Formats: sequence, C-alpha cells, structure tokens
Amino acid sequence: MTAMEGNRPVRVAVAGLGYWGPNLVRNLHEVPTAEPVVVCDLRQDALDAITRRYPAVRGTTSYDEVLADDGVDAVVIATPVSKHHPMAAAALRAGKHVFVEKPLAASSEEAADLIELAGDAGLILMPGHTFLYSPPVMRIKEMIDSGELGEIYFVSTSRVNLGLHQSDVSVAWDLGPHDFSILRYWLGETPSHASALSRGCIMPGTPDVAFINLEFPSGTVAHVELSWLAPSKLRRTTIVGSRKMVVYDDTSSEPVRVFDSGAVLPNPETFGEYKLTYRTGDIVSPHMEAAEPLFRELEDYCAAIQGGSVPRSSSELGLEVVRMIEAVDSSLDANGARMEVAIAERDLV
Ligand SMILES: NC(=O)c1ccc[n+]([C@@H]2O[C@H](COP(=O)([O-])OP(=O)(O)OC[C@H]3O[C@@H](n4cnc5c(N)ncnc54)[C@H](O)[C@@H]3O)[C@@H](O)[C@H]2O)c1
Repeated sequence: MTAMEGNRPVRVAVAGLGYWGPNLVRNLHEVPTAEPVVVCDLRQDALDAITRRYPAVRGTTSYDEVLADDGVDAVVIATPVSKHHPMAAAALRAGKHVFVEKPLAASSEEAADLIELAGDAGLILMPGHTFLYSPPVMRIKEMIDSGELGEIYFVSTSRVNLGLHQSDVSVAWDLGPHDFSILRYWLGETPSHASALSRGCIMPGTPDVAFINLEFPSGTVAHVELSWLAPSKLRRTTIVGSRKMVVYDDTSSEPVRVFDSGAVLPNPETFGEYKLTYRTGDIVSPHMEAAEPLFRELEDYCAAIQGGSVPRSSSELGLEVVRMIEAVDSSLDANGARMEVAIAERDLV
C-alpha cells in the first residue's frame, strides 16, 4: 500500500447526500486530517442544503467531474447499494482512494473485483462498517480477546425499529452488515453456516423481517433478528460466555453491562447424579468514552491513506460480510435450509 506524500490533510469528495451522506460530510469537517472539498449528488436540492451549510465546499451533480479533479485525493460514497461497485470501481480507476458505505458491494464478485482494483493501484478501499468504531463494541472486543468472558457460547442480537424501508435491498442487506461486521470483529472468525427465515410484510418481494442463525467454526452460535417493522427501537445484543455474560444495548445510557453470572456442572459424586450450580455475581457497567464512531471511522480512513495502514474496517472484512449476506439469501431461496458460507481465500487479521 502506498502512503500519501507528506502529511497534508486528505482532500475528500463525498458522493451521495441522502439520509446518511450529510453525517459523513459533518464528521469530515471535524476530522483534522481531512479536508472536504467537493460534494456530489444527482439532486440539486441535496447539494444546495450542504453547500449552504459549508460554503467552502463545492457542489456538483457530475461524478465524472469529481473523478477528473486532481484536487481530490479520496472519495466517500454514500449512494444506494447497487451503485457502490460502479462508483467505487470508477474512482479506483481514476486513482482515488475509496471509502464506500456498507455493504461494500451488491455481491461478493463485485466486492472481490474492488479489492483487486485497489490492490493493483496501491489505493485504500474501506467499507463503512461504522460499529467497529463504536466504544461499546470496542470494549466488548477487548473483553473477548482478554479471555474475561471465557469461551463464547452464543450471541443473540435484535436490531429492529419502525423504518426505514429500503426499496432496493432487503433488511438483511440493509441492517445485516452491522451485526455481521460486529460478530466478525468480535469473534475473529467467519461463520461456516447460515440459515434464515424472512418475510416481506409490507412490500412483497422486499423482506422487511429476518431471523438468521449463524454457526461459527469454534462452536459459537449466533441468532440475529433484523426488522424495519417493530413498535419500538431495539439495538440489543447478549453475549454468553463460559465465565461472564454481557448485555450491549446501544440505546441505553449504560450501553455495556457485564454480568459475573454462569452455570457450572461439577463432576457428579455418584453415577447418574448431575447437579448444576448457578452463579450470579456482580453486574458492572464500564465507563464508555464519548466518541462518535463515524468520526473515528473517517479518522482511520485518513490515517490509512496517509500512512498506508490497513483500516480496522478492512476491505477483506467487507467481503466476508457480503459473503455472509449471500449465504442468508441462499438459505432463503432454499426455504431456510442450512447453507455453507463461502470462505475467502485470504486469512483476515
Ligand atoms: N453506516 C451506517 O450506519 C449507515 C446508515 C445509513 C445508511 N448507510 C449506507 O449509506 C448508503 C446510502 O444510504 P441512504 O439511506 O443515505 O440512501 P438515500 O437513498 O437516502 O441517499 C442516496 C443518495 O445518493 C444519491 N445518488 C444516487 N446516485 C448517485 C450518483 N450516481 N452520483 C451522486 N449521487 C447519487 C441520491 O440522489 C441520494 O441523494 C447506503 O449504502 C446505506 O447502506 C450506512
């Protein structure tokens, strides 16, 4: 990977100013190593809203113009998923570093193609898996890696609320990347198998609820519930380890609670006698750093461009996430059958 010359701020263009893009523009203005220079959207009203707020930033409806601009080092793409590959590939071919919102692409072939393009050109390609930069997620990763939780038996997670229904992707493609990237990061492994049940309740053909089961090579199992149709917002994950258990609630003022609880099966004293012992100890709520994940994520993007490092949200992790969603789709096509998750050739860090 080639590092950018000198240590001047990375000159960034943001393409796609719908629901999410303005958050990226706002955070890029906060990151000291970034200099937002251009914004691009097909909609003039979206451009006007941003350039009114940030007069130093130029607006254009032409993505080709962005790519032809020598004053742009890197692009940040926040367009619908179907546009991720064409727009990211064009930027890499034009010699620009690329940050592309999750999921990295609409298929593993497309994702692998982007990885190859970036590798050949010595450019950074980074998917926007924002939760990898969230303090609670990072704290839980530390607890798992240090062995504090013991062997991870299972993870159960709910990511549901009312909206936003997407027209071009299913709920698994829209919300799945969050939990899949978190699980991949925490456990350091890609599931071997996935099975799923789903339904398009409001728009036939666009599943808006999904119940997904994942099996990991280490033996850990996970259940992921995703929905755009729920009476209240839930962002709740339970991690059950052999030593401790954790509840991570992203909507709570105490997002991580660690339970010194568990069950042990002592050796039976007599043949046929099994007596479980349950342990319920302290509940600890660790202090969390107040940092906006999107800020940290864009900071990591600029550091990778300036220093040639691999971002925590790596392109290989992005490819693994796409493979997990594809396995979910294969299972849905096969009436919920247990499907193998294709494993990437290269090992992940
Ligand atoms: N990381 C997160 O937590 C998070 C949250 C929400 C959305 N997202 C991701 O952000 C991306 C965008 O989602 P959204 O909800 O903002 O979508 P959106 O439909 O609200 O906005 C997309 C914008 O892209 C513009 N656009 C489309 N084609 C374009 C082109 N060729 N050139 C320039 N602009 C173009 C559209 O005009 C629109 O304004 C998706 O990949 C989504 O998964 C990420």
